[in-house]
Amino acid sequence: MEKKVYQTIDYPFTVGNAPEGKEAVLSIRNLSISFKTDNGMVHAVRGVAFDLYKGETLCIVGESGSGKSVTSKTIMGILAANAHIDNGSVTYEGEDLTKIGEADFHRIRGTKIGMIFQDPLSSLNPIMKIGKQITEVMIINGDHLKHKFNDVISEALITYNNDKRLLEIAKEELKFVKKNKKSTPEQKEAAKKAYLEEKARLEPIIKADKVALKDKKKEARKVVKEFKAEIVKRHRELRAPILKKMFSKGGIAEYKNFISERRRYVSELRVTHKEAKMRALKIMKEVGIPDPERRYKQYPFEFSGGMRQRIVIAIALTADPDILICDEPTTALDVTIQAQILELINKLKAARNMSVIFITHDLGVVANMADRVAVMYAGKIVEYGTANDVFYDPRHPYTWALLSSIPDVDSKERLEAIPGTPPNMLFPPKGDAFALRSKYALGIDFRVEPKMYQISETHYCASWLLDQRAPEAEMPKIVSTRIENSLRKAGVHDGK
Ligand SMILES: Nc1ncnc2c1ncn2[C@@H]1O[C@H](COP(=O)(O)OP(=O)(O)OP(=O)(O)O)[C@@H](O)[C@H]1O
Ligand SMILES: [Mg+2]
Repeated sequence: MEKKVYQTIDYPFTVGNAPEGKEAVLSIRNLSISFKTDNGMVHAVRGVAFDLYKGETLCIVGESGSGKSVTSKTIMGILAANAHIDNGSVTYEGEDLTKIGEADFHRIRGTKIGMIFQDPLSSLNPIMKIGKQITEVMIINGDHLKHKFNDVISEALITYNNDKRLLEIAKEELKFVKKNKKSTPEQKEAAKKAYLEEKARLEPIIKADKVALKDKKKEARKVVKEFKAEIVKRHRELRAPILKKMFSKGGIAEYKNFISERRRYVSELRVTHKEAKMRALKIMKEVGIPDPERRYKQYPFEFSGGMRQRIVIAIALTADPDILICDEPTTALDVTIQAQILELINKLKAARNMSVIFITHDLGVVANMADRVAVMYAGKIVEYGTANDVFYDPRHPYTWALLSSIPDVDSKERLEAIPGTPPNMLFPPKGDAFALRSKYALGIDFRVEPKMYQISETHYCASWLLDQRAPEAEMPKIVSTRIENSLRKAGVHDGK
């Protein structure tokens, strides 16, 4: 049979076309992160790209050390101090999160993007009551006037930051050519010219952006002032008759109304403690904490592991995030509890139309969660597609290896551990990093990195096995048998 010809795409600068009707909420392109250590640079993430679509769960799967957590921490802006973002972008609502400052990041981290970790204890304060831990975030983020201000200026601020960044990029490019020993004098000259042209083009734009931002800030101050004045005015109007009655005979009974009007007034300006508590109790119920009123006053040690993880999820939800990143949220829990937490995350995703990035080393967990799956190895994504693509038509030998190591309750087949150990990321292997551990490795795998082949509209894989010149390779028997079995169970008789 003639070998199929697959087109390649310019990964990690593109991830292929978005499936019809899908809108990316988060786009990562060509992301590379390294860590400075005493032994040298650890190249933890090496050119990662993916899109997270609205309302979908993307599962990132890979062995320990493959760079899953580093990728998610980059999105959250919580990388360790020795981390260096070598390259790439993380775009959310038109902003590159790798380029914005600490202050701007607070607008997004914990509000629009929430994260939960493997060990719930480490994200909870052991000496603070659960209720307070949930409400604290709401109160900190609950300044309505500040929100109003940010809403007005946000577009102008983003434009200004992005244009400033374009100039920085141009400068970095020039620096790169200048530093590169292989650059010829002509190349250096051309780079300098290109930089100066870009500078001349951008400087007036940035200047105009700055003026526009200043104007917007002025406008925002005015909007906030009027907004507040309106609230104060209404408060006075409502308070006046109460005060009048209070100062008349028997008016002390009006004191209750006086206080409640004051509460109403304050709640228009910011989230109050009472409001925060009401919302906390509601969210505690939503994440399945029984008897929330009593639980609200307890400390973390009074909760079981599964309940603690529910609390951590509740905290992440208080700000109503668009995106929830779950980094191995169930690894520390036993199997039944694990299943409950997964079910909870699925339920919340659907109810809130959130997008979820779910990180795990266990493909078995992913089956009931994922809309899409990205398989990560040695700091790269080696295969990605819909859950069906990856589970029923896997193409990368590493994906095959992961699939063979999922315990199967039905078949008597023995679990196959992946041979060898993950590579040392101080010296990432050349070519296809998995080749060293793969019996499918071709000669070229040890020298040249494979391109990203497009298998279908949704399915992509970086393996030389997909090249037309490569020999036909069959996936391991254990994987094909399982796929056949599960397809049969699902009532699909024709295997293709
Ligand atoms: N602060 C750091 N300094 C040096 N190296 C680091 C640092 N943080 C992470 N690394 C390295 O980066 C690589 C990727 O780590 P990461 O935590 O992303 O792995 P992971 O895929 O999340 O694995 P696990 O399943 O064990 O959580 C590893 O080689 C790790 O040792
Ligand atoms: Mg991790």
